[in-house]
Amino acid sequence: MPGISFDRAVDYYDATRGYPPGVAAQLRDAIVATLQLKRHARLLEAGVGTGRIALPFIEAGYFYVGVDLSRRMMRQLRQKLDGRRHSTYLVCGDVMHLPLSDAAFDAAVMVHVLHLVENWRQVLDEARRVLHSQGAIVIASDERDGQEGAPPTPRAQVQQAWSAILDELNVPPDQRRDGAPHGLDDRFQEHLQMHGAAVERLTLLTYRQHPQTVRSVAQRYQERIYSSCWVLSDDIHAEAARRLQRWVDAHPDPDAVHEPPAQIDAMIARWN
Ligand SMILES: C[S@@+](CC[C@H](N)C(=O)[O-])C[C@H]1O[C@@H](n2cnc3c(N)ncnc32)[C@H](O)[C@@H]1O
Repeated sequence: MPGISFDRAVDYYDATRGYPPGVAAQLRDAIVATLQLKRHARLLEAGVGTGRIALPFIEAGYFYVGVDLSRRMMRQLRQKLDGRRHSTYLVCGDVMHLPLSDAAFDAAVMVHVLHLVENWRQVLDEARRVLHSQGAIVIASDERDGQEGAPPTPRAQVQQAWSAILDELNVPPDQRRDGAPHGLDDRFQEHLQMHGAAVERLTLLTYRQHPQTVRSVAQRYQERIYSSCWVLSDDIHAEAARRLQRWVDAHPDPDAVHEPPAQIDAMIARWN
């Protein structure tokens, strides 16, 4: 298995992972400004999905190649482009073996994909191979669990409760992907630097998340919306969902609505 295909998420991915209006376009603008991308820049996205990140680049006329294991996810992106002129190529393939020639791109973008692949080092090496010498890798990550010192967001509270439940249930390590590096893990930076990159970290933008409650976030775990739930056996997931419900029922304010702040952070690797 080269990675986790999101075929099963296609019907709810945009509804559960989509940004509030305007955020994706701001993200594009921040990446363009940070990398000083020219209009004719050639971009690659590893794990393009339904185009949450890609669409604003495509709409702005960038040459954009998206690679993904899931045809169904990419079909949604294609539908969004229906009838419009664009320079977009969507390739069904494994980002550990990019079916693309060397030195062809100005930037390789990765958002929420490295924790899903069998070998993230190989993905970074492949991205480097297809970049030209002045090219950059951009790994971006949503940081949605609130600022340090602030009370934990509903999302963070539920995540913590879920993790404690999986501990109680002694879930075998192969069903817990806790070890997979997430977000902007230091290991990505170390690997890139070991291969000669200068690596910069920055916050690309901040925004307010969609309204959420403890109950609504818990429901997503119970409905197996997140990929971390897909790897659990049905029995374990059902028991964990029951225990999570007991935790929600005992929560002092499970229906309080929060719109917590979030930010999109990035790690940018350059070789020039
Ligand atoms: C969480 S989604 C992120 C999609 C998009 N980057 C975004 O931020 O909305 C991860 C995507 O990576 C794809 N994926 C996982 N492993 C992969 C692999 N080895 N090769 C290509 N795509 C992969 C999944 O099918 C899914 O569409």
